[in-house]
Amino acid sequence: MARPEPFDLSGEKSEGDSNISPLREAWQRDALDGATRELLAEDARYFLRQSLSTPCLNALRACGGVWLEDLQGRRYMDFHGNNVHQVGFANPAVIAAIKQQLDELAFCTRRYTNRVAVELAKKLARVTPGDLAKVLFCPSGTGAIGMALKLARVATGRHKFISMWDSFHGASLDAISVGGEAVFRGGVGPLLPGCEHVPPADSYRCLWDCASRGGCDLKCASYLEYVLEHERDVAAVIAEPIRSTPYIPPREYWQSIRRACDRHGTLLIFDEICHALGRTGRMFTCEHFDVTPDILVLGKGLGGGVMPLAAIVARPELDVAADRALGHYTHEKSPVACAAALATISYIEEHGLVENARALGERALSSLRGLAARHALIGDVRGLGLLLGVELVTDRQTKERATAQAEEVMYRALSKGLSFKLTMGNIITLTPPLTIAAEEMDRAVAIVEECLGEVEAAGC
Ligand SMILES: Cc1ncc(COP(=O)(O)O)c(C=O)c1O
Repeated sequence: MARPEPFDLSGEKSEGDSNISPLREAWQRDALDGATRELLAEDARYFLRQSLSTPCLNALRACGGVWLEDLQGRRYMDFHGNNVHQVGFANPAVIAAIKQQLDELAFCTRRYTNRVAVELAKKLARVTPGDLAKVLFCPSGTGAIGMALKLARVATGRHKFISMWDSFHGASLDAISVGGEAVFRGGVGPLLPGCEHVPPADSYRCLWDCASRGGCDLKCASYLEYVLEHERDVAAVIAEPIRSTPYIPPREYWQSIRRACDRHGTLLIFDEICHALGRTGRMFTCEHFDVTPDILVLGKGLGGGVMPLAAIVARPELDVAADRALGHYTHEKSPVACAAALATISYIEEHGLVENARALGERALSSLRGLAARHALIGDVRGLGLLLGVELVTDRQTKERATAQAEEVMYRALSKGLSFKLTMGNIITLTPPLTIAAEEMDRAVAIVEECLGEVEAAGC
């Protein structure tokens, strides 16, 4: 069936690497056996195709700790993990909690509550910063973003939002309205009205060229404040405190935006779906900035990498929507997902995973900076905790994105047993489980270096 194509999104760089590239096909030709190809063909026959995910790269038969294992029995250290694997894949404590809960109470119908859901709400109120204390759960990060946006509209009586270009908050129509990536926003008709976007705090590619003035001098924060002043009636600013790419703003960036929001009666929503629960070396990323949002959104690894679970945690004053349905999700108080989440948070606390993320992250960042001195392809290295980014460029002066080379590095690394994703086409993004050992981290950095060397030597 012919359909109008207002955008050509096929070459769009975004969130993740392309799933329909010639390099991927070449990797699959070399690496996959007949049984895997058959399963991939069957997958393609029955699933609707969509960008970034289907058709798929390969098929899995097992996962555990830092490892993925494919149908052919090959193992990959997973430095991607969709950001669900803070406690490692198939963490035994999480699996045990789920099994026990299945035997006690497997589902909770709406109108009822249950002990584990209340325990988890209490726990989140205790561990989240500031006065965040009232909780709603749902099965997906996207759903939680929708609940946060709705709550902000009801609480402020306003409908406008400010968010960041290049951001991702989920793929539903409300989430892509505040999201900033063409591959999600393009060609799907009208989005929510009143969604303004501003440039992210990307000091490497700053629109106001802050590098020429010695680094970030908060022009991007001033611009956001300028938009707030001109729009006047913005319900909320919504952003990840650190975009996964990663873009890491200075502390004063979020502090000044927090103050501006307060001046304008605008709420601040932090999407910590990817990085909460320790990834950046603090339990919550906003703690690096000493800024507490009005609504904090959690997801992904909250369910221990097994159960789908997301949450919003809001200030008590925002409990103003008793007569509206903010979420009304069928699985909103899933005892099994809540048991997984309680086990996950306990595991993170008892095994010092936040401290491990901080210490190993610093060590990895310094090794990756060492690579930059030896490899001209590296334009920038940045990271906080175990959220690490290596940006490849063809020329350090022009900063042209080395997208072809980055894809080469990624598939070569995959062949050597290391899996990671590319963001914006040229940024090697490394997010291992927080349980990772120093030797595994070193091995991953060594693989990245080997692949960079091969790609440079081949002049790809
Ligand atoms: C920052 C961010 N927000 C929201 C989402 C959506 O979460 P989910 O896929 O659980 O709906 C994602 C998913 O990748 C994300 O990275």
